[in-house]
Amino acid sequence: MDATAVGVGAIIGAGIFVALGIAIGYAGPAIIISIIIAGIVASFTAFSFAELGSAIPKEGGAYQYTFELISPHAAFLLGCLWLFAQIVAGAAVSLGFASYIVAIFPAAPYKVVAVAIALVLTGLNIVGIKQSTSVNNVLVAVKIAILCLFVAVGIFQVQPQNFAPFSPNGVVGILQGAGFIFFAYLGYGRIATLGEEVKKPEKTLPLAILIALAIAVAIYILTALTATGLSSYQTLAQSGSPIAEAAKVTGNFALVSAVSFGALIATASVILANIIGVSRVSFAMARNGQLPKSIARVSERFGTPYVSVLLMGVLLAVLAFTLDLKQTIAITSFAILLTHVFVNFCALRLRKKMPDATKFRAPFYPLIPVLGLLSCGILMFSLPLESWFVAAVVVVVSAVLYRIFAN
Ligand code: ALA
Repeated sequence: MDATAVGVGAIIGAGIFVALGIAIGYAGPAIIISIIIAGIVASFTAFSFAELGSAIPKEGGAYQYTFELISPHAAFLLGCLWLFAQIVAGAAVSLGFASYIVAIFPAAPYKVVAVAIALVLTGLNIVGIKQSTSVNNVLVAVKIAILCLFVAVGIFQVQPQNFAPFSPNGVVGILQGAGFIFFAYLGYGRIATLGEEVKKPEKTLPLAILIALAIAVAIYILTALTATGLSSYQTLAQSGSPIAEAAKVTGNFALVSAVSFGALIATASVILANIIGVSRVSFAMARNGQLPKSIARVSERFGTPYVSVLLMGVLLAVLAFTLDLKQTIAITSFAILLTHVFVNFCALRLRKKMPDATKFRAPFYPLIPVLGLLSCGILMFSLPLESWFVAAVVVVVSAVLYRIFAN
């Protein structure tokens, strides 16, 4: 349960509460189809993650798989991409948190709020995973309950005319919407980084990954259906707090307050989970000698990799200050899709290179990882050119860093 809650905690956040509006701007009410497409793409890779997580249940997740199944050089590249994507994601979610604070208190300084929440949660992570896990469990329960409340109240006031035109930008719009909303599924790979912190990881990790994703798919579909049925897609697309905007239509002030509160809890819990994940991957990279050893230093008092947590938390705060929401979401989705291409490739190599290691065997092998690889590639094409450019820069910088740190 803790591992599943860490997954759900890492998944349900700014994606459904904030990025939904941006994605609706492309897909219109057909966002439901975009959510299903992105969910299917995420599920393919989730199976690969589940299989890899059961065979290589070590701290580091995708980075560690690439290290053992492709090469140290590819692993370094993937590690940098993964860290980058997670840090930008953390910045995006911090900005999402700030959007809802501004929706509640219009005078609040947007960027300062984003930086402050990033730094406060970095501090919480340094204090320790045990405390963070129990805090996370409560946060997850609250955010799921609030989204269920939104659906339960809102679904009865849906206006069918809001669903027309259903797909204003056609198939291209639906795919672009899927590219942006893919961000909302990011986080289940976070479970795979917990290999050394859970009991019986070979069973716990695959189960937790698949359950967390199934919960997210169900909640996203219901929430998006309710939001687009309550409010016109144009209004939602222009809002930084689209779920609160949709809740306003019900005229139920308590619901609007609950949704805004839920958004703050959801985004805060994603940042929390995100910083843990980022710090564990940088920790694994340092342990493998690919980043300076000082990054892997563990605090004697708290037992946490405090240097990596602090470093990543500060970087995240800087990015939240300098980038805008749409940029951070596009860049994150793109970089994560690219890392998922590697993950599916690792899954394809796993059964050949470590035939006895796989305790969980995903169905329809090798079809699922092949579909995962191809579908991630297709969604990458639906994202803005800017995200391709940024990812290319990260790859080049990683190649330079590899020469400095890893040789
Ligand atoms: N999936 C995470 C969120 O939606 C990144 O906030």
